[in-house]
Amino acid sequence: MKYEQMKEKLKEMLPERRLQHSFNVSKCAVELSKIYGCDENKAKIAGLLHDCAKYFTDEQVEDCIKKFNIKLDHLEENNIALSHSVIGSYIVKEVFNVEDKEITDAIKYHTTGKENMSLLEKVIYIADLIEEDRNFSGVKELRDLTYEGKLEEALLMSFNNTIKFVIDNNQLIHSRTVKARNYILSKSM
Ligand SMILES: [Fe+2]
Ligand SMILES: [Fe+2]
Repeated sequence: MKYEQMKEKLKEMLPERRLQHSFNVSKCAVELSKIYGCDENKAKIAGLLHDCAKYFTDEQVEDCIKKFNIKLDHLEENNIALSHSVIGSYIVKEVFNVEDKEITDAIKYHTTGKENMSLLEKVIYIADLIEEDRNFSGVKELRDLTYEGKLEEALLMSFNNTIKFVIDNNQLIHSRTVKARNYILSKSM
């Protein structure tokens, strides 16, 4: 499927604001792939489609889990904010004919991160956070680090921010995020 066709299809799946976010992530991921030297086309597609399952109904999630035999963990269950990345990695194959494992993995791990991420996984994870319309406190620092070539520092800062936020709000932490954070930190010591 061509990129323009993907955009048309995605329009049927996402509300306007999320669609614009998807275009922005795609654009940012291409810029980052020029800086960090990963595959521009893969970054463009993964960025565009990363949130394709974000607005699935409970029924659509259920159908997808059954159809692809997906095992969600107990944090992902009944939590589309976490599960849309895992579900999305199957939907891009089904709906957009994207079979490339680098792309599907970048989508699968864009919410939590993971240990030992590929360059594309890192680029999509951070592009999702720093795309031009994002304006949470601390985003400028993340953006600056990322565009200055300090991707690892940006990732560590972002994992730390996420973990602090989750603790401050008394929410559960996904173990993949803790592992992602520890992995980067121990590599830099
Ligand atoms: Fe997402
Ligand atoms: Fe996103």
